[in-house]
Amino acid sequence: MRYGLIGCGGIGALRAQALGLAQGVGLAAVCDADPARARALAGKHGAAVEADWRRLVERKDIDAVIVSTPPHLHAEMAIRALHAGKHVLSEKPLARDAEEARAMVAAAESSRSHLATGFNYRFYPSVVKARELMASGIIGELDHIRSYAGYSARDHNPEWVHDAEVMGGGALRDNGIHLIDLTRVFLGDVAEVKGFATDHVWGFDGCEDNGFALLKNDHGRVASLHASWNEWLGYRLLVEVYGTLGVIRTWCFPMRTQVTWSRERAGKMHTRTDRFLGTMLQEHLKSYRWLVVQSFITEIAEFGRAVRGERSVSATGLDGLRALEVAAAVAHAGPRRDAAMPTAIAV
Ligand SMILES: NC(=O)c1ccc[n+]([C@@H]2O[C@H](COP(=O)([O-])OP(=O)(O)OC[C@H]3O[C@@H](n4cnc5c(N)ncnc54)[C@H](O)[C@@H]3O)[C@@H](O)[C@H]2O)c1
Repeated sequence: MRYGLIGCGGIGALRAQALGLAQGVGLAAVCDADPARARALAGKHGAAVEADWRRLVERKDIDAVIVSTPPHLHAEMAIRALHAGKHVLSEKPLARDAEEARAMVAAAESSRSHLATGFNYRFYPSVVKARELMASGIIGELDHIRSYAGYSARDHNPEWVHDAEVMGGGALRDNGIHLIDLTRVFLGDVAEVKGFATDHVWGFDGCEDNGFALLKNDHGRVASLHASWNEWLGYRLLVEVYGTLGVIRTWCFPMRTQVTWSRERAGKMHTRTDRFLGTMLQEHLKSYRWLVVQSFITEIAEFGRAVRGERSVSATGLDGLRALEVAAAVAHAGPRRDAAMPTAIAV
């Protein structure tokens, strides 16, 4: 499969690197609003440069397009690419809001092309391990989930992450959107959302600092979720999946997965922890970017499977839409200071 890449910034450069390392794919052309940036990345990967993304999506030598621009551009770019018959992998959040995302999903349906959302956290080793453990039945049936992702808004780069016109909101659309997706991976479809959004620290207009949500699935299983821009030092992500016989805990950065279980309810408990030492070493030697690129390589393989109609664990456009619906149910558009109120919205 031959790819075109729109957006050659921080993440676009890692996407290009992943395409260079993945099996059976190639990068045919790139485009960026900054021509020098596009030329530099194209030179590194032997790709052509298109000055205008509209021309890139029309190219005959491209089967799929990766959209890695800021989120306010995702919908227009993806829809045009889908209508041009290209499959699309759009970075997260899929769009600024559910309305834009719905239009993208509709474009994929009408064009019969595949739309995927860049929820690459699904492919981090600790998450893959947690999914395997869950599927093995070791913790029995799902009971509830607790999940958290946080870092400091002070560490944000690029600046547009704080601009609601570009992002559509704050922490819940930033790393919170990965967290919502991971929570859905274990919870399944969300039937009901209640939540609060707060912005007492940073005051970025229309962007919540914190999103607190309670999600319930059709079987009455509940997840509590908190996405934050107020984790004062470092980055923390934790998903805890509680079952009738134990709990699976999965951390990112550093990766760790722990399972605590018993063979019968209230029986003797056992604990096992995977620390992914090989991954940790590579991450230490080559930076977290190495880990991101690895996840992108797996995501590209899974995207290819989805395009071929095979079983795939890559996130679809619908997954991207559902995550945005959850974020929207908690953090309505508009100034957060006025909107720091409880909501109870069925999704
Ligand atoms: N999957 C992840 O873990 C992850 C992490 C960080 C960011 N992201 C997402 O990746 C996307 C890109 O983020 P980034 O950090 O690389 O941002 P960035 O600002 O570094 O790069 C964005 C690039 O898009 C280019 N661009 C802007 N308008 C354009 C246009 N009209 N045509 C062509 N190019 C245009 C910019 O010039 C820039 O080079 C965003 O959607 C972001 O939310 C994903």
